[in-house]
Amino acid sequence: MKNILTYGTFDVLHYGHINLLQRAKFLGDYLIVGLSTDNFNKLKNKKSLYSFEQRKLILEACRYVDLIIPEETWEQKTEDIKKYNIDVFVMGNDWAGKFDYLKNYCEVIYLPRTPDVSSSKTKLYIKGNL
Ligand code: CTP
Repeated sequence: MKNILTYGTFDVLHYGHINLLQRAKFLGDYLIVGLSTDNFNKLKNKKSLYSFEQRKLILEACRYVDLIIPEETWEQKTEDIKKYNIDVFVMGNDWAGKFDYLKNYCEVIYLPRTPDVSSSKTKLYIKGNL
């Protein structure tokens, strides 16, 4: 059993997210998503359209996601890796290099981002067209 872990806000779920989650899942057997809480988003200077509970509900409907845990701090990653027996930590390559310190605990992979789509872009587009 190979356990995979990734983190993110996943607001207004889009095909770039699904591409990431699908590739992450296919790196192993069991995909855990650390979903940023609304408080943690504030720390990251992000404001999501959907609340944590709404984003969780949507993400739970994705066939590639096996478990969702809350992401509340930057520091929890090493504890999560140990707690959930993680083999591979995955993020999009906008984070390339930022989590290399986790290589002491598991494999770290940065996957290429899907071009031309993001939650912020989608929200701006919708706002402009309301
Ligand atoms: N991601 C991706 N391709 C995209 C957008 C996101 O692979 N086009 C990945 C990110 O690299 C990250 C995960 O999806 O690993 C969650 O990213 P998140 O920050 O929630 O999504 P964004 O669309 O980048 O959000 P924002 O516009 O608010 O930065």
